[in-house]
Amino acid sequence: MSTETKPQETIPKQAQENLAFMDNVTMKFNKVVALKDVSFNVGYNEVVGLLGDNGAGKSTLIKVLNGFHRPTKGQIYLDGQPVNFRSPRDSRDAGIETAYQDLALVDLMTITRNFFLGRELQRRFGPIRVLDIPRMNRIAAQSMSEVGLRNIREMYETVSFLSGGERQAIAIGRATFFGAKLLILDEPTAAISVAETEWVLRLVGEAKQKGLAVIMITHNAYEVFDVADRFVVLQQGQNYADIKREDTNPKELIEIIAGRK
Ligand SMILES: Nc1ncnc2c1ncn2[C@@H]1O[C@H](COP(=O)(O)OP(=O)(O)OP(=O)(O)O)[C@@H](O)[C@H]1O
Ligand SMILES: [Mg+2]
Repeated sequence: MSTETKPQETIPKQAQENLAFMDNVTMKFNKVVALKDVSFNVGYNEVVGLLGDNGAGKSTLIKVLNGFHRPTKGQIYLDGQPVNFRSPRDSRDAGIETAYQDLALVDLMTITRNFFLGRELQRRFGPIRVLDIPRMNRIAAQSMSEVGLRNIREMYETVSFLSGGERQAIAIGRATFFGAKLLILDEPTAAISVAETEWVLRLVGEAKQKGLAVIMITHNAYEVFDVADRFVVLQQGQNYADIKREDTNPKELIEIIAGRK
């Protein structure tokens, strides 16, 4: 990651006032314009529901924010400073933890290894360094019980058997444990049961209580309504609406998503 030091006066006000600010971002894939001049911000300790129909550009937006894609145009700011992430790894090091519905975890790795992924603890064994598996197991187990993953079998089992909700819980627990500032969840509830959805939404609320900011992508305005402070609706790659919870309701959001309002 490179962080340029810009003179303070050239940094937009929204960048200075928010945890993250995407300034006029365009993302093209050859001829497909997935995002067109989108500005988007997440405040400190704010939960933003990112809504929109299929293909509206939601996943692309967060993938530009976390360095998975490099924007065709536009600048991203974190903590008031311009950032140029070259990979999700870069953004993770800067405190942005992303959980994708499918890619959140590596199936063939254990729960513990997924929890630490790239941040493994080591211990010295004579002149060599080895992974400190017992300590990692203890920490992961503790964190998993904090997020309510109680019926977990063993930390050394692979995650391939976990349900969608359990996977999201691991990703959220990991973000909290490693002190992320921003948690991004891409359709965390798309393929999970009603009970697990409630659990994931509760974890989002808890993440906020612990001081994190959250971007939660969903199709379901009802689902995210109680947990979000603000809603951003994308439509055909553009920022179509940006509205605080107190100024709207789920029914209206659905009308906005459908473009009827
Ligand atoms: N890697 C890519 N290459 C080419 N086109 C892409 C790529 N990623 C996204 N697109 C296109 O960009 C547009 C926005 O896609 P995106 O996945 O961001 O939508 P979305 O709002 O997340 O939709 P969904 O609700 O279905 O997940 C779509 O037209 C999609 O086909
Ligand atoms: Mg998507």
